[in-house]
Amino acid sequence: MAKDSDMTTQPDLEKPVLVPAEAYVSPEYARAEQERLWRKVWLQAGRIEDIPETGDYITYDIGPDTVLITRTGPDSVTARHNVCPHRGRRLVDTPPGARNAHGHARGFTCGYHGWSFALDGTNTHVPHEEDWQGSLCAGRADLTPVRVGLWGGWIWISLDPDGESLEDYLGVIPEMLDPYRLQDMRARWRKWIVFECNWKVAMEAFCETYHVATTHPEFNAFGQFRGWARNKGLHSHIGYEAAKDREEDAGKLRVGTGDARISTAQMQRFTWENANTNTTMTMVRAAERLAEELPEGTEPAQVSAHWIKASREADAARGVNWPVVAPAHTAQAGTAWQVFPNFQIGQAVNNMLCYAARPYGTDPDKCIFEAAVYELYPEGEAPETEWTYTQPHEWPPVLQQDFGNMAAVQQGMKSAGFRGAQPNPYMERAVASLHANLARYMQAGMPEQQG
Ligand code: FES
Ligand SMILES: [Fe+2]
Repeated sequence: MAKDSDMTTQPDLEKPVLVPAEAYVSPEYARAEQERLWRKVWLQAGRIEDIPETGDYITYDIGPDTVLITRTGPDSVTARHNVCPHRGRRLVDTPPGARNAHGHARGFTCGYHGWSFALDGTNTHVPHEEDWQGSLCAGRADLTPVRVGLWGGWIWISLDPDGESLEDYLGVIPEMLDPYRLQDMRARWRKWIVFECNWKVAMEAFCETYHVATTHPEFNAFGQFRGWARNKGLHSHIGYEAAKDREEDAGKLRVGTGDARISTAQMQRFTWENANTNTTMTMVRAAERLAEELPEGTEPAQVSAHWIKASREADAARGVNWPVVAPAHTAQAGTAWQVFPNFQIGQAVNNMLCYAARPYGTDPDKCIFEAAVYELYPEGEAPETEWTYTQPHEWPPVLQQDFGNMAAVQQGMKSAGFRGAQPNPYMERAVASLHANLARYMQAGMPEQQG
């Protein structure tokens, strides 16, 4: 892998840049990612509600590394490398075809020679321990610790024992997203799949709105929305332009154009049926009542206010209380945040859509892609969901449209005639931001300033 000379000077991402293809297609780059990237960053490894009871555990794999995350008490979660310190057997196996292991245990016993561990990963038993002549001390028989942090309802892990804190890593994100109370949301569905593309190609299909008019032409009927992308240190976010009195429109809960009463109802119904995300049944129904409840000619700002108020009240009546987020904050936060390097949170006050992509082994041409849709439920009424391996044709149609580009992009980037990606500096700045930050970790691939 070519090492570029200066990876500390980031280009001005408001100006055009060229992103070299190496980061997407090079086997050498993909191998180097494990050491330089995945073992250095904080990664979202699951939801806290995945392990509600002491003894509940999940595993999380990132390339060849595998982590065992266990609820060790009412307020404590522990993460350890999921590998037996005796002779290296992976401790907890992932069932064939499953995304990860999950279950409930009192402790863990290695299936090879029977070394045993407490929930927190400390060794509790070594058969014939005396044969080691007292040397299995100082943690040598324990599972190797992994740093763990909690934020937003997620469990975050870092394989870097000396890295920065989760708080420092997340930067401005908690301040921007805490008002949405993401930790109160529960999954409505969770799907995963293995794609024939690099994990960056998969993530980049969702971090910009520039593709919407072409890849999802059906949405053009509901209005043209001009989207922006902004870089914020390691991370980036996207949203829509909104007028001064229409700041809600910068977020996900937007009305349509034309007669907003009609177009919003159509857009909501279409979105529910074809994307199955970014809205809730409460909001679809409230949108479908707009034409009865509001006179013709109602200003879009009033339609928006009425629709959101009616939805909020309908949910409150069934015990689902949305947080209140000031319109100015919505305008600033936008629709989604890309948490470096491989997680996207698409937030709203009552639902969210999250994407993640990880390498599949060290193959640059494959990734594990996953999407989860969350909403607020009355206490105790959240559905039980599992990560479901889902073939492309079984995903919502709008996502299938996105998937249709991925393998073709991966193949196209290998062409001798491809000179590097030229992301739109206004609408696709999140792509440039990802690569500018990757370059600092990878010591290669800094986007080049153009013009
Ligand atoms: S490898 Fe685990 S007990 Fe031997
Ligand atoms: Fe899309």
